Amino acid sequence: MKKQTIQPAKHLTGGVETPGDKSISHRYAMLGGIAEGTTELRHFSAAADCHSTLGCMSALGADVKIEKDTVRITGRGPRGLKSSWRALDAENSGTTIRLLSGILAGQEFTTKISGDASLQKRPMKRIVGPLREMGADIRAREDNFAPLEIKGGNLHAIDYPMPMASAQVKSAVLLAGLFAEGVTSVTEPARTRDHTELALEEFGAAVERDGRTTKVHGLFGGNGSGKLVAKTIDVPGDLSSAVFFIAAASLLPDSNIGIYNVGLNPTRTAILDVFAGMGASIQMLSVKTSHGEVVGDLAIKGASLRGGVIEGDVIPLVIDELPMLAALGPYTEEGIEIRNATELRVKESDRIAALAENLRRMGAAVEERPDGLKVAGRQAGKLRGAEIEPRGDHRIAMAFAVAGLAADGATVIRDADCAGVSYPTFFEELNRLAER
Ligand code: S3P
Repeated sequence: MKKQTIQPAKHLTGGVETPGDKSISHRYAMLGGIAEGTTELRHFSAAADCHSTLGCMSALGADVKIEKDTVRITGRGPRGLKSSWRALDAENSGTTIRLLSGILAGQEFTTKISGDASLQKRPMKRIVGPLREMGADIRAREDNFAPLEIKGGNLHAIDYPMPMASAQVKSAVLLAGLFAEGVTSVTEPARTRDHTELALEEFGAAVERDGRTTKVHGLFGGNGSGKLVAKTIDVPGDLSSAVFFIAAASLLPDSNIGIYNVGLNPTRTAILDVFAGMGASIQMLSVKTSHGEVVGDLAIKGASLRGGVIEGDVIPLVIDELPMLAALGPYTEEGIEIRNATELRVKESDRIAALAENLRRMGAAVEERPDGLKVAGRQAGKLRGAEIEPRGDHRIAMAFAVAGLAADGATVIRDADCAGVSYPTFFEELNRLAER
């Protein structure tokens, strides 16, 4: 429960490479665990969340070896997992429990999976519903919460019109679709990150995409190959982690930083458009595609930010970056208003409440709403360093560390270790780039 003190900074300079993308690392680890042979993942995420996934895959019989940021995972094919004698622990990771449930729904044994107190409060009905429709037998506390008990096998394909725009729900159904008889299709109401689709193709599954509909062919029966192939892949840096540095560099005039080897998948870069629309100076360099994922470098300079309204179909595309945007609100010209983002209330914390509370602690004017918040602009001179309560939520801790760089006086982040859920070395890197 370590506290971190953030002193105001003049500007940010230098270069940084963020840990491997969290979303991509989860998917490669899971697919590697059900592929045949050894998958080598370089620059694998340092996030505690992704290590929760590795722990679960290992408990299910995959052989997992970790050497610094290289992970080697040996699977025995899609039917090679075995039942775990102990309950799987997804810890703080929603992606682990929801995506893995899709795979577990395809296994002919029973698995219990749970997580920490925060994860046990997050809704699971969204995946339990479609997975049951496919034929899995699932029990959940109050029919909605972890622990989940999943007895899988004998799945059939479904056409699933998703009621919400969630990459985790889409992914759970597509992963279950690997084990189902026939072709499973998922249609999303708005675009969400497509790492699962790309990773499935990379590991050899048959995927068809048409607009917001994705189809996956079952591996067994029909035209299915019955297997996935092991891969050697470099994981791109995490753009959602890079966003804290983009925000900090934009916030402090005279900043000039480079972010190298970062994932620029078009379903993740809406945040760069939002920043650019507000007047940020961001340049994309050396862009290439590798294993289906776009990767490149970013150059960011300090700029004055206008602020604005973020709403509608862009919300699912910037869902993890909204805490950082909201925390920048007071430093912008027009302020930041976030609408249609009720999902923020069921993330690692109730992020709307956590943002409103901590912005007020710093002296900002905030209006909290059921589906978002409105943060007044032009408050730069009025913001003071404060004691921040991140509610155990990594993105709240990191967002306020950045906001603290431009406040008057020191900001203290309570329980700052929670940043390790996605970025264990975040505070060291921020301090390295910040000039005071
Ligand atoms: C993720 C999807 C998003 C995001 C989460 C990671 C993923 O969640 O917030 O951090 O890797 O698929 P939802 O699908 O619940 O929106």
